[in-house]
Amino acid sequence: MIILFIGDVFGVAGRDALFHGLYNIKKRERVDICIANGENAASNGRGLSGRDACDIIESGVDVITMGNHVWSCREFEEFADRLPVVRPANIGRGRPGKGFIVKEVAGVSVGIGNIEGRAFIDIVGDDPFAAADDMTAAIKEQGAAVTLIDIHAEATAEKKLLAMYLDGKVTAVVGTHTHVQTADETVLDGGTAFITDAGMTGIMRESIIGMAYKGVYDKYALGRKATFEPVKKGTLEIRGVVIDADEKTGLARSIRRIAETVNPSV
Ligand SMILES: [Fe+2]
Ligand SMILES: [Fe+2]
Repeated sequence: MIILFIGDVFGVAGRDALFHGLYNIKKRERVDICIANGENAASNGRGLSGRDACDIIESGVDVITMGNHVWSCREFEEFADRLPVVRPANIGRGRPGKGFIVKEVAGVSVGIGNIEGRAFIDIVGDDPFAAADDMTAAIKEQGAAVTLIDIHAEATAEKKLLAMYLDGKVTAVVGTHTHVQTADETVLDGGTAFITDAGMTGIMRESIIGMAYKGVYDKYALGRKATFEPVKKGTLEIRGVVIDADEKTGLARSIRRIAETVNPSV
C-alpha cells in the first residue's frame, strides 16, 4: 500500500497548498492513505482549530498528526477525541486526544502514532522510547498490518535514534517539527522507512520556516519580545514522503521525498 506523509502544514498558505495540490499528488502516486502533520495549520501558525482540521480533511488527508503546538488552539481539546487527529502520546498526560489511531483503509488496518522528542524543545514530555513501546504494543494488539510513527522533535539524533530503536517493528518513522526537508530518506536494515524531517507545506521560500522576517529578526537579532507573523504571499509548496508499505510483512519497500510547487490557478 502507498502512504503519503505530508510535513508540517503551515497556516493559511499550508492549507491552500493542500487544497490546490493534494488531489493531483494522490492521484499520480496512487495513494491509499494520506497523513499530514497539522500542528501549525492554524492561521497564526500555532496549533489546529476545528475548522483547520476540517479544511485539511476535506483536501484529502485521512489522519492529522500534531506536535509541540498541540495545546496552542484551545478548541483542540473539544474535537480531539472526535476527529481523526493524533497528538504526541507522551505530552499532556490525562488531557483529551489520543496518541495513536488504527484506521481501516482498502482492507488494511493502518496504525498511525505521534510521539514528541525531549531534546531542545519547549514542551518536554515523558520518555519517548517508553511511549513508543506502549504505542507499538497497543497498535499491534488492535491488529494493524502497517504502522507509521510521526516523531516530532528538534534534534536529528533523537529522531534517528527512535527510528533505529523501532527498526523492524514498524513500517515507517517520519520526523517532523524542523520544517526543512532532509535528504537522508532510507529503509533501515530491519525494514523500517525513515527520514529525519519530511519538510514543510505552505510558503517556505519567502519565509523563515513559515514566519515573516521581521518578528524573527526582532527576536534573534535584537533580542526583543517579538510577534511572529506567518507569511501569506509567496510560493506554495507541498513537501513530504511517499512510502511503499508491504502489508504482509508490515515493513517498507521504499521511501521517496516529494517537494513540489503548487500553482493555485491550475
Ligand atoms: Fe512545525
Ligand atoms: Fe513543532
